[in-house]
Amino acid sequence: MKLYHIRNLCGMLQTTKIAEKVSCCGNKQRFSSSLVSGDIGRFIVENTEIVGEDTLTPEIKLRLLTPNCRFWHANPELWPLPDPYWAIYWPGGQALARYLLNNPGVAKGKRVLDLGSGCGASAIAASLCGASHVVANDIDNVSAIATIINCELNGIGPLKCLSDNMIGSQPKHYDLILLGDMFYDEALADALHRWLDSCINAHGTTVLIGDPGRASFEEHGIKRLLQQMAEFELPKSVQMENYGLTYSTVWRYHPTLVQYLGLGFGGGEEDHRWLDSCINAHGTTVLIGDRRRDSFEEHGIKRLLQLIAEFELPKSVQMENYGLTCSTVWRYQP
Ligand SMILES: C[S@@+](CC[C@H](N)C(=O)[O-])C[C@H]1O[C@@H](n2cnc3c(N)ncnc32)[C@H](O)[C@@H]1O
Repeated sequence: MKLYHIRNLCGMLQTTKIAEKVSCCGNKQRFSSSLVSGDIGRFIVENTEIVGEDTLTPEIKLRLLTPNCRFWHANPELWPLPDPYWAIYWPGGQALARYLLNNPGVAKGKRVLDLGSGCGASAIAASLCGASHVVANDIDNVSAIATIINCELNGIGPLKCLSDNMIGSQPKHYDLILLGDMFYDEALADALHRWLDSCINAHGTTVLIGDPGRASFEEHGIKRLLQQMAEFELPKSVQMENYGLTYSTVWRYHPTLVQYLGLGFGGGEEDHRWLDSCINAHGTTVLIGDRRRDSFEEHGIKRLLQLIAEFELPKSVQMENYGLTCSTVWRYQP
């Protein structure tokens, strides 16, 4: 993958070619022999432009690759670094950063990990909101240098940047994990999904995902376990660079959501409270289908339900369910 494709990177994220794109990026971790350490910082400064306007977070300045930069038009063979994901402010990251800045309490005082941090914008937003500890993690080492430069542009001290692959590692204690545009490859998304579960189980970590509705994300199993937190219309220029994607959404990952939507009513009081918060925040309608199992009939939520419909089960379903004869739909009305 070379730079003449830079303007198409966002579009490629919607195609099956992204697997090729990711492995390509992941495999090119060594810096060119002609560019080491401090040289890379100079190279970034000389070959990017400071962008502020025309993103969802005009208050954050970033060094990005734009049509005013020589490599935008130059022979891609001359590009001396791994593919420059860090030189694009992806729509998923834009939505996440906007959401944090609009709701500073989400990151304030928290230990935050921005995984797949790219240009570092979400990590910078968390830091501006008063997070107690922020780590920007990206397997591309150049991203770390770009992030440090971007921190300076925004008047914050350099954030801790890590370049190891944390997915699959022992979960560390983070209160909040941020994932901007990270569900673009099926294998990566599957591994990420498993690892997120281990982080949540180990530390009760809150996980926020920003995504502009890419097919690979919409079709992933994690999608039915998400609560929508915010949606932002993308600036026109971002829409054009992203082949007509118009919105970017912030989701919160709730592994327990399946208890309500698919597997039946498990009955945890904590999940019950979470439903209350959905209804309070967004007036969400909650429908529960249950076949009158004891755990449901005896649960405290039962007295807050309105009967909507009852269906007699087909004989074969009755037999498979030990003589349960009816299944009922309730509306939860706290
Ligand atoms: C589409 S970019 C998103 C960048 C940023 N989050 C944003 O929204 O602007 C995806 C980033 O994930 C990084 N990445 C891919 N696999 C990763 C992994 N296993 N761990 C950390 N970063 C990874 C890539 O290097 C790239 O910078």
